Amino acid sequence: MKQTIGVLGAGTMGAGIAQVAAQSGHAVVLVDLNKEQLDKAKSNLAKTLSKLVEKGKITDAQKNEIESSIQYASDINDFAPCNLIIEAIVEDLAIKHKVFESLEKVVSENCILASNTSSLSIASIGSVLKNAKRVIGIHFFNPAPLMPLVEVIPAVQTSSQTLNSSVELIKSWGKTVVVCKDTPGFIVNRVARPFYGEALRIYEEGIADFATIDWAMTHFGGFKMGPFTLMDYIGNDVNYAVTESVFQAFYYDPRFKPSFTQKRHKEAGFYGRKSGRGYYDYSEVAILPTPTKNEELGKQIFNRILAMLINEAYDAVFMKVASEEGVDLAMTKGVNYPKGLIAWSKEIGQKNVLTQLEQLFAFYGEDRYRPNALLRKVCETI
Ligand code: NAI
Repeated sequence: MKQTIGVLGAGTMGAGIAQVAAQSGHAVVLVDLNKEQLDKAKSNLAKTLSKLVEKGKITDAQKNEIESSIQYASDINDFAPCNLIIEAIVEDLAIKHKVFESLEKVVSENCILASNTSSLSIASIGSVLKNAKRVIGIHFFNPAPLMPLVEVIPAVQTSSQTLNSSVELIKSWGKTVVVCKDTPGFIVNRVARPFYGEALRIYEEGIADFATIDWAMTHFGGFKMGPFTLMDYIGNDVNYAVTESVFQAFYYDPRFKPSFTQKRHKEAGFYGRKSGRGYYDYSEVAILPTPTKNEELGKQIFNRILAMLINEAYDAVFMKVASEEGVDLAMTKGVNYPKGLIAWSKEIGQKNVLTQLEQLFAFYGEDRYRPNALLRKVCETI
């Protein structure tokens, strides 16, 4: 059913979300305080849609229809007719609070107020609302028009009606919806942490260099990118900030401890691709390092990182962040993992994963390697 969807913030995420909503046949109001951002969003959309026309994916008429269904505005009063507003502005709780208070004054009683936040709790964002039953997290992945996953996060205040209509609506946009608990990192940004953290740890111990670890994960794991290539792609500033925020939010659980290597790269301005240098050098003259293709070493690295990822996936299920299916869908549809982690554990044998973790725990004596209780429980029954 055609609705009016508001999107606040026309940056990377907001512009993408507006496109998705418009392509699904809705009237969209895209608001940003910065006029340049609105212009940029509009011209980028025109380019994207022209490419889709060239490829024969949409017709010229559809392109025109999508473009004309988005109203670009700088005043939130234009959100008045909206059924749902998705906020995608700067990741700052104080600013989001001000914005949500203002939004509630503009919209009708039934309008759902959603945030695309990656790291703030939905309960804290909703706390400023008079009717907090309407708050929800609707978390898209970058780039929003291409990534199928959307995590939908009800806060403790959210009504079942808000949850049900949000899920139904986002599914109707052709997205894979996974409902998850309002906990730090939700699913993907929590479960994926060891992909980076354990890779950095292996490097710091001098077990292998960046290129070898990346080779191990792509060659033996089938991951599209190795951890260091991926961190350079995401940006070490962004990736480090997420790691630090998850670590703090989990009351400094050692499982999520950030790495000095990444911190130093961030401090040095070695952000990755966008700054020309990260773990790798992206200048034209750079010679890419070659991995040490030692099969035995590569397998060890892959098994260790995979075991840590599986352990985290079990913890998310154990803590009821999402179901087994939900966690597996999230990792395959949100960050393109070659297989769901729970399914992967069944394929290689949960007992093998448990043994690997027990060995790491015994050797290092660090809490970071403690095997998850659910994984243990599952192993007792097989
Ligand atoms: P961005 O910096 O690209 O865009 C933010 C936009 O919000 C800018 O255009 C800015 O002018 C505008 N803005 C800031 N304050 C405003 C206000 N008070 N009123 C109206 N517009 C305002 O940011 P990005 O990357 O799109 O992130 C937005 C949100 O989405 C954040 O909460 C972030 O955590 C979340 N997110 C980001 C992802 C990513 O990969 N970049 C992925 C998933 C979620």
